[in-house]
Amino acid sequence: MVLKDLNKIRINKLYKVFGPRPKKVMSLVTQGISKSELLRDHNHILALRNVNLAIQQGKLQVIMGLSGSGKSTLIRHINRLIEPTSGDIWYDNNNILSYSSAKIRKFRRENISMVFQNFALMPHQNISQNVELGLKVQGKSKSFRAKVASDWIKKVGLQGFEKYYPHQLSGGMRQRVGLARALATNAEVLLMDEPFSALDPLIKTDMQTLLIKLQKEVKKTIIFVTHDLEEAIYIGDKIVILKDGEAIQNGNSQQILLQPKNDYIASFTRRVNRGRAIKVGSITNSTEHTYTDAECNENTCLEEALKLALKSPEKKIRVINDNNDYVGFVDAASIMETICEPK
Ligand SMILES: Nc1ncnc2c1ncn2[C@@H]1O[C@H](COP(=O)(O)OP(=O)(O)OP(=O)(O)O)[C@@H](O)[C@H]1O
Ligand SMILES: [Mg+2]
Repeated sequence: MVLKDLNKIRINKLYKVFGPRPKKVMSLVTQGISKSELLRDHNHILALRNVNLAIQQGKLQVIMGLSGSGKSTLIRHINRLIEPTSGDIWYDNNNILSYSSAKIRKFRRENISMVFQNFALMPHQNISQNVELGLKVQGKSKSFRAKVASDWIKKVGLQGFEKYYPHQLSGGMRQRVGLARALATNAEVLLMDEPFSALDPLIKTDMQTLLIKLQKEVKKTIIFVTHDLEEAIYIGDKIVILKDGEAIQNGNSQQILLQPKNDYIASFTRRVNRGRAIKVGSITNSTEHTYTDAECNENTCLEEALKLALKSPEKKIRVINDNNDYVGFVDAASIMETICEPK
């Protein structure tokens, strides 16, 4: 039996060194020289060190890390805006480093779309024209472009603004245009480099909710860069955390919050509202049956589960999954402990 590889993108042993002679300093890098030493003593910048990442088809992979940790460098390797110093990148089991420049152009036109933090809209083109841009590059007919653009403008909530120009829109609206433009190309993969980080908090939340809603419908493979862990937890199926160019941990939000790999990851998670971010299903460990009249779904956040558990005379809650199967129970004291005491 041949197992189907569900990974859309695989990144293997990726290293990126910036400087005049990156290959020359690679042996120092593989021997473990630190980023600061490499800069101080050898005048090269270590942007990525031995990054391995498999990104599943149809999932949203977040790349997280502080400024300078290598997020943009990593995402830009995926459409070959940046060439690796060493390592390889696979797309649907094709090595994209072996692509000719013509094939790369086709790949960028048809398979991959990018959404940027600064929106990157054409100032002298109206919203419809901006959304049609990628389709125009793909050589699609005028009537097809108009239809697809109008559909996406509606889906991102900008109906009525078709003839407006970017400067007439707010930041949030402009980023809706950016999103519509990327989705209109029907590319399989969306690369999003801090697309919402310039937006006001409330608008940012609206955009995250819109992205989740559209993603449920189109099921693209999305790679999303952010330095905001709350955002990563809200939207990401998986979150990889980079530090000085190294991928320290890759996992879902519950693994990052409940099993941080080291103190660095734990320190990242300290500011997170655990009552909201941790799901009760993640801390239900006893499958033993018990009596309590409180019940909730496994995806309920701890805060809600705690309220329900405290209302029950038994001070515990039964947890069920989407199929109404019993998953286990958890008592109010354990919920409180998890909310209050991060490891
Ligand atoms: N073209 C370049 N030439 C030299 N050094 C670079 C270049 N691009 C990035 N770097 C360096 O590589 C490292 C990673 O940078 P990168 O832009 O990928 O970080 P980032 O995580 O995206 O940061 P930010 O959150 O500020 O956008 C940094 O030390 C940066 O200074
Ligand atoms: Mg960046």
